[in-house]
Amino acid sequence: MSASELTAAQRAPVYLHDYRAPAWSVRNVALEFDLDAAQTEVLAELELQQDPAQADAALFLHGEALELLEISLDGCELSPADYQLDANGLTVPHARGNVRLRTRVRIAPELNTALQGLYLSGSHEAGFLLTQCEAEGFRRITFFTDRPDVLARYSVMLRADRARYPVLLANGNPDGAGELPDGRHWARWLDPHPKPSYLFALVAGKLEHIEDHYRTSEGRDVCLRIYAEANAIAQCDHAMRSLKHSMRWDEEKFGRAYDLDVFNIVATHDFTMGAMENKGLNIFNAKYLLANMQTSTDADFAHVEAVVAHEYFHNWTGNRVTCRDWFQLSLKEGLTVYREQEFCADMGSRSLKRIEDVQTLWRAQFAEDAGPLAHAVRPEHYLEINNFYTATIYEKGAEIVRMLAVALGRDGFRRGMDLYFARHDGQAATVEDFLAALGDANKTDLSNYLSWYRQAGTPRLSANGRYDAATRTYHLQLSQQVASILLAADNSPLPIPVALSLYLPNGDAVPLRLAGEVAASGIERVFVLDRDSMTLVFEDVFAPPVPSLLRGYSAPVLPQFDVSADDLALLLRADSDGCNRWMAAQALMTRLFDADVNDATTLVAMNDGLAAAMDDATLDPALLAQLLSLPADSILAERLAEIDPDVVHARIGALEKNIAMVLHARVLARYDALSADETGAVEARAPARRRLKNRCLDLLCSRNDAAGIVRALNQFENARCMTDSLAALVCLVRAGGEPAEHALAAFHARHADDALVLDKWFAVQAARPHADTLDTVQALTERADFRWNNPNKVYALFMTLARNLHAFHRADGAGYAYFGACVQRLDAINPQVAARLAASFKEWRRYEPHRRALMQSELQRLIELPTLSPDLRDILQRALA
Ligand code: PHE
Ligand code: ZN
Repeated sequence: MSASELTAAQRAPVYLHDYRAPAWSVRNVALEFDLDAAQTEVLAELELQQDPAQADAALFLHGEALELLEISLDGCELSPADYQLDANGLTVPHARGNVRLRTRVRIAPELNTALQGLYLSGSHEAGFLLTQCEAEGFRRITFFTDRPDVLARYSVMLRADRARYPVLLANGNPDGAGELPDGRHWARWLDPHPKPSYLFALVAGKLEHIEDHYRTSEGRDVCLRIYAEANAIAQCDHAMRSLKHSMRWDEEKFGRAYDLDVFNIVATHDFTMGAMENKGLNIFNAKYLLANMQTSTDADFAHVEAVVAHEYFHNWTGNRVTCRDWFQLSLKEGLTVYREQEFCADMGSRSLKRIEDVQTLWRAQFAEDAGPLAHAVRPEHYLEINNFYTATIYEKGAEIVRMLAVALGRDGFRRGMDLYFARHDGQAATVEDFLAALGDANKTDLSNYLSWYRQAGTPRLSANGRYDAATRTYHLQLSQQVASILLAADNSPLPIPVALSLYLPNGDAVPLRLAGEVAASGIERVFVLDRDSMTLVFEDVFAPPVPSLLRGYSAPVLPQFDVSADDLALLLRADSDGCNRWMAAQALMTRLFDADVNDATTLVAMNDGLAAAMDDATLDPALLAQLLSLPADSILAERLAEIDPDVVHARIGALEKNIAMVLHARVLARYDALSADETGAVEARAPARRRLKNRCLDLLCSRNDAAGIVRALNQFENARCMTDSLAALVCLVRAGGEPAEHALAAFHARHADDALVLDKWFAVQAARPHADTLDTVQALTERADFRWNNPNKVYALFMTLARNLHAFHRADGAGYAYFGACVQRLDAINPQVAARLAASFKEWRRYEPHRRALMQSELQRLIELPTLSPDLRDILQRALA
């Protein structure tokens, strides 16, 4: 009987407090694959060991959608009476102690549209086979104790038709290859490092590769290869460079060297997520691996560098030290995102990188934390783990690590990390282990940071200052308020590291001396607020200062600072921390949004501040571009008691037009100068200049002036790189009409056979701020170059649509109805993709009553469908709860 024939049971929640060590572990695994897209057979030999403390636990192995062909225990074939099969796996009740279990199963990769387990990328004739196992995909390949705290050594034999599958890859080091009769061949791989099953991977197919070498600090010569389909192999060099930089950086910053003889990366167009850190065999969504100036934007180049680094860094934070259970997911993801962020900061501009990361956090994570899908960085329970690969686990998790690093200082954090690796190498660890290692290495107790992992919601930080001219003292009161949604749970005060400086009206920073200290120490200091409130008293302050708080955004809190518009203008002009200059500009813009752009003092402060920034020839052009950018729509929308997309749109439009008008002459001159200098280069300062140039173009086009549109057309026609041509296309499409149609057609003709560029072409149209965009999206799905079973295509259209205030949130509800129908359709193809899209409804309760009702009824319709994946059901249930 096949497990897939059994009806799937409704899932029960999994609880952190139910954790028990595995009753059965696997020491060694030998796998043999007879690979074929239609039918693959998998032979598995497991050396199993029972935990003596759990002597009566039956042997249970996870397995889903596997057709069992053969099973034997210690060499004896089992009859169906000796085991039980259900939709979740296989139980062998009489197994005891140390046993060897052998199973042979059959799976059907080409029918696997969920892209978990073994699947086919590309067409039946020309595609290749690959796996995705995190979090629970390995159980779709063979029967196994598929949980991250079971670490085993793998030996993998791959057999396949040589012509169809010339390249055969798996984890670890190659261990022989050869010919077989009937045009088949084999390759064996041996991974010496014990690993959890979610890190298993194999790839088989017709792929080209580029090769390079890296010599580790320990003297190991590592062969680096990046594999891609032939038409993309020319676009892998940037990824290879990024890989080598990452390897060097992890040695220099964390003393971590690579530990195998080969490191392979494979690009695929069919991938639900960004990329995957399988041991020695990373698999990437092509979107985050391929880069080329003609087809990728500067932002794409930066993403490739970041994701290559991220997956590489997982080799230590995730693979060598893995997670005890999936509740600890942020232990590897938050820590690795932090490491990735620091790497990118070192490779480029630190303050700019910080600004981008804060933008992402505010846009994605704060919104998540404020709605019904809010969850702790370490949740206490889940229904479907696939739905926990969220901004909270990744981005807020990284912020917690950053706070620890800020609080411990550079050397203290490094000492802590060294101890973490020394203690837990080869283990499956917990968040508590991490905090203990960081604390012990610094002879301090960091266990109060556990609250950051346990509390959902964004805490608020308020600051009130009082200057006493007579004593030349400045009293700064800092206090925190936990997010209201969690008053029931752990609401103990959080440790909040506040990096701060004080600025005098002339722009000088004050040397900081607290009352009671003998001497000032520096102009920037970190104070950890670990109570509800505290007051800092600074002495020798010769004029009323402006506090510059949370420098470098030192904690993921919502700032509620009592500072005037003029104070913000001072910070915007004079703060030595680029991130805080940007936060000051954002604060001014947010105030104006709140005031419906009707607050003369703030307007003057902002306009003067931005004008001064534009006149400052020494300012990094990329930072200037950020200073000139409004907060994301979604962040501003959150300011309203009830979100009305029409109000959001009107206020943002007014703000944007004000900036465009007031700065018009400067913007025009700057655009023309930058545009005359454009070379289309990859390296050095060019991306920063392009960023400013394209923000200027954006402003020039915001009022549909001929001056702007002519420049956009000209830039589109003469662009030397994708960054410029895409930026111009966005402006033209927003303006609409014949020039937009013409540009879209030209763009398509130019890039018709490049899937990743076509994704941009789809996305630009789905982003057009107009109610009719809904019809456009619908029409685009009918095209031959749109594929419902390709996540990148689906995201390009539907993730973009979900962010479109005009189309998704159409007042007649057509956006919600159409989107819901598409989610339903996708659920039958790829439940993870459907669940991710459905999360777009998460803020429904925040909307004005009319739209709120429309969204609710669409969610209700979906949840009542007779067949729903566990992934989608989980999101719908939580959204409606
Ligand atoms: N672990 C991957 C990463 O962050 C993300 C991922 C999760 C990929 C689940 C696939 C499936 O690097
Ligand atoms: Zn990761």
